[in-house]
Amino acid sequence: MQNNQQIVVKVPATTANLGPGFDCLGMALNLYNEIHMSLAPSTTIIVEGQGADNISTDESNIVWQAARRVYEKLALPMPQISLKLVNQIPTSRGLGSSAAAIVGGLVAANQLAGNQLSQEELLALATEMEGHPDNVAPALLGGIVISVVAEGKVHYLRLEPPEDLSTVVAIPDFELSTRAAREVLPQLVSLQEAIFNLSRTALMVGALCQKRLDLLTVAAQDVLHQPYRAPLVPGLVQVIEAAQRAGALGVMLSGAGPTVIALTGNCQEEVAAVMEKTFLESGVKCHTKILKPIVDGAVVL
Ligand code: HSE
Repeated sequence: MQNNQQIVVKVPATTANLGPGFDCLGMALNLYNEIHMSLAPSTTIIVEGQGADNISTDESNIVWQAARRVYEKLALPMPQISLKLVNQIPTSRGLGSSAAAIVGGLVAANQLAGNQLSQEELLALATEMEGHPDNVAPALLGGIVISVVAEGKVHYLRLEPPEDLSTVVAIPDFELSTRAAREVLPQLVSLQEAIFNLSRTALMVGALCQKRLDLLTVAAQDVLHQPYRAPLVPGLVQVIEAAQRAGALGVMLSGAGPTVIALTGNCQEEVAAVMEKTFLESGVKCHTKILKPIVDGAVVL
């Protein structure tokens, strides 16, 4: 079951962890990559926009790899495909660019192959490729997603983002690979640290469900990953404090960083200006964007 259509998939950026929810919470944001995929006489890959200079255009390309996983799963030979990637999500900044590539490739190839895999099967494949579900789940499903991998299956719960929740992202002008940002983490944590994050993760989920934005400042606190990653992101602590003083609700590293994300109400402009200025005081140039949490994940256009 194959077709000759040009498939176009739009897939959102995501912010993972939401502070304390390491590897289990994530939220989709209104910044997108587009994947154009069709059958072709020979495989070609073109990248436009973010990552155009460094994303591979051979079969090591993540979108191509994801497409191959779909065909493997369906026990079909991988066809020659033409791929055009039009990227808005900056690479290696903590905004889910690799999750978007994986999810986009899976969804597009599934559509090209006759739409035979379910969302659950796509989510399982995406999680296997990414290694953790917190970016791929909201990239696929939209909204805010709690995801847990148990006995090889991804169990998830999707929440609608509160309507008056907005965000400001401060995106530094340097890349940080997730691998490097995970290598600095300790293998063991104390009971006290575990309790610190458990309590805030529970509060974060409850606050988002009940639209208690006033609780987000405490709910966003973390001791499991941010303190260890702070040396990799000069100015992190100061930017978090300054954004909070400017009226942000909760401020945290976005995923593995180096982007810092502030959850806000209506003070986005002030928070953005303060984040940019404070990063600069630590010698880090960044640009800021105001992004909205969104309800839709990857969609076939
Ligand atoms: N939960 C992951 C981390 C997200 O913080 O390492 C990065 O992809």
